Amino acid sequence: MPVPVQQVFSFLNFDPDKDGVPVVPIDETFPEEAANELASLESFNKHLYRPNTYLHKWWARRSGTTFRYILKQLVADPAKRDFYEPGGLEGKIILDPLMGGGTTLHEAVRMGANVIGVDIDPIPVLQVRASLNWIPVEQKIKAFKLFFNALHNVLYSFYQTRCPVCQELSEVQFVLYGLRRRCGCREVLFVDNLVLRENNNKPSIKLCGVCGEVYGTAEVHCNGGHVEAAILTKGQVKCGICYSPFQDILEEPFPQRYRPLVIVGVCPAHSQFFKRLDEDDRERLKYIEMTVRNLHFLELHGFNIPTGPKSDDLHRRNIRSFLELFTPRQLIYLHTAIRLLADFPPDKRLWLSLLISTSLEFNSLLCGYKGVDRRRPGAIRHVFSHHAYSFPYTALENNPVFTGKTSGTLRRLFFDRVARGGRWAMLPTERRIVNGKTIEVKIHGEVDGGQAVISFDMLREGDRRFYVFQGDSRQLPLPDESVDYVVTDPPYYDNVQYSDLSNFFRVWLRLFLPEEADWRYDQYASAVFEGEDSQAGKYAAALAQIWEECARVVKKETGRLVFTFHHFKPEAWAELTISLKRAGFVLLNRYVVLSENPTSVHIRTLKALKHDVILVLRPNSANSERPQWSEPSRIEQMDSYAFSRDCGAALGWFLNAELSEEQIHSKWKNLLVGGGRNNDKASG
Ligand SMILES: C[S@@+](CC[C@H](N)C(=O)[O-])C[C@H]1O[C@@H](n2cnc3c(N)ncnc32)[C@H](O)[C@@H]1O
Repeated sequence: MPVPVQQVFSFLNFDPDKDGVPVVPIDETFPEEAANELASLESFNKHLYRPNTYLHKWWARRSGTTFRYILKQLVADPAKRDFYEPGGLEGKIILDPLMGGGTTLHEAVRMGANVIGVDIDPIPVLQVRASLNWIPVEQKIKAFKLFFNALHNVLYSFYQTRCPVCQELSEVQFVLYGLRRRCGCREVLFVDNLVLRENNNKPSIKLCGVCGEVYGTAEVHCNGGHVEAAILTKGQVKCGICYSPFQDILEEPFPQRYRPLVIVGVCPAHSQFFKRLDEDDRERLKYIEMTVRNLHFLELHGFNIPTGPKSDDLHRRNIRSFLELFTPRQLIYLHTAIRLLADFPPDKRLWLSLLISTSLEFNSLLCGYKGVDRRRPGAIRHVFSHHAYSFPYTALENNPVFTGKTSGTLRRLFFDRVARGGRWAMLPTERRIVNGKTIEVKIHGEVDGGQAVISFDMLREGDRRFYVFQGDSRQLPLPDESVDYVVTDPPYYDNVQYSDLSNFFRVWLRLFLPEEADWRYDQYASAVFEGEDSQAGKYAAALAQIWEECARVVKKETGRLVFTFHHFKPEAWAELTISLKRAGFVLLNRYVVLSENPTSVHIRTLKALKHDVILVLRPNSANSERPQWSEPSRIEQMDSYAFSRDCGAALGWFLNAELSEEQIHSKWKNLLVGGGRNNDKASG
């Protein structure tokens, strides 16, 4: 449904104090339609919409436009409540105790608030510090050039090959590997596809499965020559000779389970080429393997993969160390980066380290090749394209110091995430839909950055100050009633295993920035359900303590706790209910918006949960009446929007009802597994 212009709600008649009870705009209204329209655009282009927030990988970020809408509904001055008006939160203190990628903080700082951000994991803390800190882009460009040139000088010779036409030394752009597998009679190599590249107006580039040659002619080419092993494509389950199934080779270290098959390079005279490895390339790889054996960090401890819901996928493949997830050449890249980063002053080292760390998503043996399609040359399937580890057939080893700005290279990442992000931060842009067309609107008067402070007291004056620290939000070092609003996006029960997944980056970041964070923090204190039966109740217990702290620090009558949530499991809703009940919150209202991360669900006919519910709560107080919610008899399970709306309304009722925690579990189970009639809010 088209939404012409942002819904400007006129609150000129807005009654800030209804019957003696303070009312905040979001208690009564939220522009769901306008927010959804922008969120659905943003979800495909999150990094383009808010480039300054995407310095480092973090999982399950919510849409920035949704959070801007939420924060705009907290603005007291009606003239500043419009989405495209700058500011509105000057003089306010906003807390996000579970800040993750920092969406709330960035949006609130832009609007002039002073903000507090806390996360138990060091990575979000480092990222938010780096991205909110005000360093002129020109300074960053200068520092990056210095760093890149030093890195390139050390590494370029490891990424060279000869052009198949003129034999001149050329830059490697990336290398494709095949996965070794065995059946009862032989060893073979598996790839996703024997087509390497589709071309416009000329034959595709292909790999011969018999001789291993790379060719670009229409006819099938085979030189009949020796090939180490036949090359098969994924999907072939059994051997055509002995009919036994192909098995993975689990007893060898992970890097040795792959064989390099194709080099893609760029010759200054003959442009891009795909070629089979020659003798020279094999010699270079042997030299790289020898070099890596002498690298100092291989002796360091701390690379062992811990057990965990997602890490166990690595264990199941007999991968025991994070070092195994990289080729020898990628390890040389990391080793060189550690050495060079130490020479940079702390402010520059911070974002440079985050850049190297995030580049690992595109520079690991878990990266796959998705550059076959003519529209996506050189595209990489990065490590966390899903919220889990996946294992490619065609693995892609990228050249991080490639001088072009192709996918996953350091230069590309720097320009996308640092330089463009920094320029955007000086004059943020929003999108507006006019007659079905999207136009860009510059928000003059806003900047996405501020001044770091090191204590709460320093937030009492000034604008756009940020106090960001690593900590467990079950105990917040903040005074009572010191915060205007808590706006957050908590973990959704078991949806994303942040602590477990982020080990992939953490083992390296701790070497880049040893002094900048507490790398030995207790990962199991996080408010996430890791899936073990023995942990039932852990999520409710941790969140309850966090909400209790929020209830303590937020201002009593005017303060609000606003957060987004979705889940299809009754246990998730039951534990969320218990946590809020223990902390004494009541639900004032709920709205439904498109979610950034739809999840497949397994209830009735609902195939995917595409929405988040925005929950607006306040600490229960003797002075105000509880908002009324009718008892739910049924949750709509045919439609994602209605499901989210009903669950939100049901939560409102649960928070008012006198029920034991056992009854809460059983009633939610009944509602989500059983049937009945729709429920709705009785009154707000
Ligand atoms: C859903 S993420 C937040 C996402 C974020 N709002 C964004 O848009 O990117 C939830 C965060 O809560 C953090 N967290 C979990 N338990 C915590 C605790 N006890 N104290 C502080 N942070 C915690 C996790 O590390 C994670 O980064």
